[in-house]
Amino acid sequence: MWPQLGTGCYTNVLLCRRSLLAAALDKRHRGAAQADSNIRHLSRCKALVYTNHGDPAHVIQLQNVDLPPLGPKDVLVKILAAPINPSDINMIQGTYAILPDLPAIGGNEGVAQVVEVGGQVTSLQKGDWVIPRDAGLGTWRTAAVLDEEDVISVPGDIPLLAAATLGVNPCTAFRMLVDFEHLEPGDSVIQNAANSGVGQALIQIAAARGINTINVLRDRPEFTQLSDRLKALGASHVIKEDALRRPEMKELFKMCPKPKLALNAVGGKSAIELLRHLRIGGSMVTYGGMSRQPVTVPVSALIFKDVKVCGFWVTQWKRQHSIGAFRSMLDELCSLIRQGKLSAPACAEVALGDYRQALDAAMQPFTSAKQILIT
Ligand SMILES: NC(=O)c1ccc[n+]([C@@H]2O[C@H](COP(=O)([O-])OP(=O)(O)OC[C@H]3O[C@@H](n4cnc5c(N)ncnc54)[C@H](OP(=O)(O)O)[C@@H]3O)[C@@H](O)[C@H]2O)c1
Repeated sequence: MWPQLGTGCYTNVLLCRRSLLAAALDKRHRGAAQADSNIRHLSRCKALVYTNHGDPAHVIQLQNVDLPPLGPKDVLVKILAAPINPSDINMIQGTYAILPDLPAIGGNEGVAQVVEVGGQVTSLQKGDWVIPRDAGLGTWRTAAVLDEEDVISVPGDIPLLAAATLGVNPCTAFRMLVDFEHLEPGDSVIQNAANSGVGQALIQIAAARGINTINVLRDRPEFTQLSDRLKALGASHVIKEDALRRPEMKELFKMCPKPKLALNAVGGKSAIELLRHLRIGGSMVTYGGMSRQPVTVPVSALIFKDVKVCGFWVTQWKRQHSIGAFRSMLDELCSLIRQGKLSAPACAEVALGDYRQALDAAMQPFTSAKQILIT
């Protein structure tokens, strides 16, 4: 079973695919290179630090942290926005596959702006927007001194929230869509946790390629609104978990072919139900374990349907592939963003100082809103 287990579901639904606040933030941050001359000689930053593993609400503290001097291959960056992802929570809890030495700064993802470069830096310049190349950077802070190789530049003309959430979830969705099955326009993919950040990215990337998506959600009072929102992103079908066991699925498969690919972020019964509808010879890729239940594979699925059951971890992908491969994926995703075909997930923007509220919201079920810390 996959190591990152259930956390991070949300209660406050704040529909801000491209909110006015985000637009205002974009404008503010585009002018930030100038304003950030103020932090050029910063020796300290504010950061969300934990010295022990445990409940994030108890172990995370906002602290002043000393910045190291800028080395010749370093860049000084101002962090602009950083999301709270389930893996960030699991890292703080001490249950994730990789754990930093303590004390550590929370957060693995985000977008930052370069405000000063060391004398031997070749790949970046002042004003560039950058995102982490690997997990473990500690992004919940106002500024950082980083090796230029710790980050990769992204275009400064994409929306701030799209940049802040680009490096993990859209990359995961992209890889799972292209690396496991050969999918043609008209083919189908089925996924659970379809309202997750990964799920929303998957819907949009698949739609841009003409691939049908069958999107499974847990039932909730506002199911119809959420379903409408996912359909507006390009979801072909949105169904409740219990519909997977009902005869109405036969009707659905008159409209689109059985899926070649199932994407599982939940585990337990939900994963078994995905397998039930997979095409003979198809693949189920597990990338999350939000229910904290193991994935049990019926013998019949292996013998009579010859399904392939495997896992995916984007951190491992980044470590095993060249910077050029990462760059080419980012280019493709940024092109979709520029064309209006891929947007940031529904989100709630929260000031860094209000981190307790953001952490609390990030750990509630049925929120459908990614918490983004704005620094
Ligand atoms: N393997 C990788 O490389 C990789 C990369 C990125 C993410 N992930 C994993 O993918 C999952 C989703 O991440 P994200 O950032 O996209 O998530 P997110 O935006 O924080 O959304 C969380 C999702 O999990 C669902 N969920 C929460 N608790 C659940 C439970 N007990 N049973 C069923 N569903 C539950 C939520 O649905 P409700 O609205 O119904 O609560 C929501 O769809 C996480 O497990 C994360 O660790 C893995």
